[in-house]
Amino acid sequence: MKNIYLIGFMGAGKSTIAKELVKKTDAKRIEMDQMIVEQQGMAISDIFDKYGEEHFRDLETELLRSFSGKTNMVVSCGGGSVLRDENARLMKENGCIILLKATPETIYERVKNSTERPILNGNMNVEFIRKLMEKRRERYESVADITVCVDGKEKAEVCQEILEAVKNIQA
Ligand code: S3P
Repeated sequence: MKNIYLIGFMGAGKSTIAKELVKKTDAKRIEMDQMIVEQQGMAISDIFDKYGEEHFRDLETELLRSFSGKTNMVVSCGGGSVLRDENARLMKENGCIILLKATPETIYERVKNSTERPILNGNMNVEFIRKLMEKRRERYESVADITVCVDGKEKAEVCQEILEAVKNIQA
């Protein structure tokens, strides 16, 4: 199987769906955020604080480069990773890009108790989420091979939609 890159806003369910997808396939699950935390030995919010967002984005690019030529992976991508052209290109070259979409209200409910996302720290409200989502919307939609709305759906249903779409793309 080609790699599956799950993209979308923070809290859209990329990690949850990645876990479910690997149960249904023999693919390996990759959590970009978690890999960066392990490689750097620092929390994401500490990387942002100490070295800045650009540095974090460089780490994302390096990680995506390291996946080049590999197959059979489900990659749960950091929500901002696809904003860089090179990152989107690396994903496209190595697999299918699946956009998970949810409403700002759903996102808020899922992320409101987390302090692990520096971009939302101090901005934890539906209005901020709506605005940032709107700012990123065109980018997310233009790079995605497939878009799946997750609101009100069971994870099994979302996975089935993704696997069918990937099968059609690969056929
Ligand atoms: C970010 C999303 C986060 C993490 C970082 C920045 C973003 O990942 O990479 O806090 O810019 O959208 P999740 O989408 O997994 O929360």
